[in-house]
Amino acid sequence: MPNRRVLLNLGIFTIACLVIAGIAFPSSRVTIQDLVVQKVQEAKGAKPGPPVKKYKPEPTYVPPPIRENFPLLATSPPPPIPKWNQPREDMYKEYHLPVAPPLLIGFTRTWPVLQQAVVSYITAGWPASQIYVIENTGVQQANARGQLSLQNPFFLNHTALKALGVNIIQTPTLLSFAQLQNFYLSLTYEHNWPYYFWSHMDVVALSFEDGGGGMTVPYNQPGYKTLYELALAALRNQRAKGGKWAMRFFAYDHLSLVNPEAYEDVGGWDTMIPYYATDCDMYERLRMKGWSIVEDRVGIITDVASAFEDLRVFYRVDGVQAKFVDPNPPPPEKNQRRDTDGVTRRDEEDPNLAKWHALRITSDNMYHHKHGNRGRNTWQLGQQGGQGEPFYYPQQGLAEALELITETGREIFRRKWGHRDCELIKDGHRVYDDAWRLEKDFK
Ligand SMILES: *[C@@H]1O[C@H](CO)[C@@H](O)[C@H](O)[C@H]1NC(C)=O
Repeated sequence: MPNRRVLLNLGIFTIACLVIAGIAFPSSRVTIQDLVVQKVQEAKGAKPGPPVKKYKPEPTYVPPPIRENFPLLATSPPPPIPKWNQPREDMYKEYHLPVAPPLLIGFTRTWPVLQQAVVSYITAGWPASQIYVIENTGVQQANARGQLSLQNPFFLNHTALKALGVNIIQTPTLLSFAQLQNFYLSLTYEHNWPYYFWSHMDVVALSFEDGGGGMTVPYNQPGYKTLYELALAALRNQRAKGGKWAMRFFAYDHLSLVNPEAYEDVGGWDTMIPYYATDCDMYERLRMKGWSIVEDRVGIITDVASAFEDLRVFYRVDGVQAKFVDPNPPPPEKNQRRDTDGVTRRDEEDPNLAKWHALRITSDNMYHHKHGNRGRNTWQLGQQGGQGEPFYYPQQGLAEALELITETGREIFRRKWGHRDCELIKDGHRVYDDAWRLEKDFK
């Protein structure tokens, strides 16, 4: 039996035909009724009707709306940053650097997490004027014009970022991860940056306010150095040492320092490998050409998927608890872990250190929450709003498409090097010119 939708579609189709027929043959004596009857009879007979569209089941769980995590900015300027983390003016000159090295933070989705990263770097001492948020949303001017709502995953609040004093650069279209990295390289020409730092947006950065076990001294002692100052020192030391250096990693590449000259020598990132595995490809190619990548520590940089409920906590405002919320919580039944974790201060301590410890411990809990049983990148899935807004794209589709592109990128990496894993030099002594020339070494 043809279902009702088939009949309905047939009806609509018939009316459309008739309108056209009516225009083409105004004297036609066929009535609408005749044609409908004829179509219904055809549908009841053996003749196949037009294909029926079938919808996927609706998602059974919709995450709760996200909440702004720095509402204070709507009514007042940001609080002062902790005074021991306030950068001295032109601090880069103290480190004999020709220009202030910028910190680039790319953004595609999940505003509360980006805002948290920016606030954490500022309150850890990075000068806001030297931070550049790279808006890579593909929504053209929609965010700059304030046309997107908070529930839209691509929402970025330009007003709030300006209030924080950071810069915004927009990519002309949505770039893949590898393309974004090459875009950073292109910015060095435009801005005359001899070096730059870049950070993932899903991190919390803290200075070693407790001294970091000898990395510096505690915040209230002479000689204390913030994350920013240690980063400047790392660049100064690297410049003094010279040689073929490509990068410095601070917590893998969660924060990195880049020497553009090295990127140029290997022809930049391979944009054919758009997401995962492109880092393996890039970092191994740099090493193959003799460019060093040194791991270093300048602060605590934690990989997270959630955000502190109220970002005033980074400014150590009294009475604000260090609690976090998952901006995109998975369905409750799958979510075994607690999503929030208020850390109470240890009374025996100096109150400033107690607040810092609360930040550190909570961000550590956030790391475990991200890397727990919920799947690392599910955080990018749940923010579901924005229907009808400019450049709207269904999130479920974006997630699925990105997964496919990512997997294709992994396959391109495997074919390029004939190898499945990240280690290209150690496993098989591959050299730079082996790219795309090797048979695969796995079944
Ligand atoms: C963006 O931030 C400003 C504060 O700087 C605030 O007043 C405004 O409400 C925010 N916009 C949205 C859509 O949340």
